[in-house]
Amino acid sequence: MADDLLRYRAEFPILERTTYLISNSLGAMPRGVYDAMHNYADTWATRGVRAWEERWWMLAAEVGDQIGALMNAPRGSVSTHQNVTTCQAVVASCFDFAGKRNKVVYTDMNFPSVMYFWEAQRGPRVHMVKTDDGVTVPTERLLDAIDDETLLVPVSHVIFRSAYINDAKAIIEKAHKVGAHVVLDTFQSLGTVPVDVQELNVDFACGGVLKWLCGGPGVGYLYVRPDLGRKLEPRFTGWTAHENPFAFEIGPTRYTNPPYRFMNGTPHVPALEAAGPGLKIIAEVGANRIREKSKHQTARLIELADQHGWRVNTPRDPEKRGGTVSIDMPDSREVCGELLKRDVLVDWRPKAGVRMSPHFYNTDQELETAIAAVEEILKERAVATR
Ligand SMILES: Cc1ncc(COP(=O)(O)O)c(C=O)c1O
Repeated sequence: MADDLLRYRAEFPILERTTYLISNSLGAMPRGVYDAMHNYADTWATRGVRAWEERWWMLAAEVGDQIGALMNAPRGSVSTHQNVTTCQAVVASCFDFAGKRNKVVYTDMNFPSVMYFWEAQRGPRVHMVKTDDGVTVPTERLLDAIDDETLLVPVSHVIFRSAYINDAKAIIEKAHKVGAHVVLDTFQSLGTVPVDVQELNVDFACGGVLKWLCGGPGVGYLYVRPDLGRKLEPRFTGWTAHENPFAFEIGPTRYTNPPYRFMNGTPHVPALEAAGPGLKIIAEVGANRIREKSKHQTARLIELADQHGWRVNTPRDPEKRGGTVSIDMPDSREVCGELLKRDVLVDWRPKAGVRMSPHFYNTDQELETAIAAVEEILKERAVATR
């Protein structure tokens, strides 16, 4: 079958040299980033401080809109930050945890940084729902924990370990029924699994661009539903969020409108510049084509793992599965190290195994190559220990 998406391969230099199956961790760098970085340096070198008003100050909102377009967010509803953990801090600072409604509910399948943040706070009462099999989230158990004392539900859309797709719609509906807000972490969904924040009616959505969006490290994003965005007043704030930052007024802040309302200090300009080319390509390829190919390639990886009798820690139902297949073959951690030495780029996570994450630019042949490499490594290890 002809794969039209393979024409994008030429845009990603690392694909010439490696079997790149690690877009769940760091998406391949688009060639266009060389020019973007060069232009950034040129602007700084030639325009100096004028760069702020000519480009840099607006860039945070422009990149926010580019990301927002990928998840059907209205213009001006997405602010940019350094990472997801910072986004949690911005959201937390919008609420008061002194009252009875101070529960923060999530599952043990969240990305740990999000849990470390909430565990470390003084006000919120964390209720962590335990899950069973390391792959799925028991939705009913999570929904039951969301009650009328719950203030926030910060949960992953797609689980980083297993690629299980949480039932975001059910979680959001339950939260709204009892008056709670959902902070959906779309880091492992946006760019590989379609996300529509308006359809979900989610309160907040956050993630970063360095994985499936091929945008490099340093840009996180925070969507705030417009009706909330006009009301909320983040206490983690700074001059960027002021109605008139260049008046340098003394005293308490006067909040501007979103997206700057949710930002705080000087924006991370180099990272914002680097994010552009990846976001442009992802928008061009489109969520549906990416998803269709991802379902096909992840199914093939599962099939190959099954043929070898390796444990698959990822849902078999394509509708419940994101872009990654976690395979726990024997000695999976050591196997991962060997794969890296052979230019098969993947990663390893405890309770998951080797995570293989094909993206729109991968060939079907690369899946076979990766699995053949695992087979060879296991054979060599068996001989060495005989
Ligand atoms: C679901 C998810 N959330 C968050 C993160 C990272 O958080 P941060 O942007 O704070 O580093 C990751 C992975 O790095 C992730 O997979």
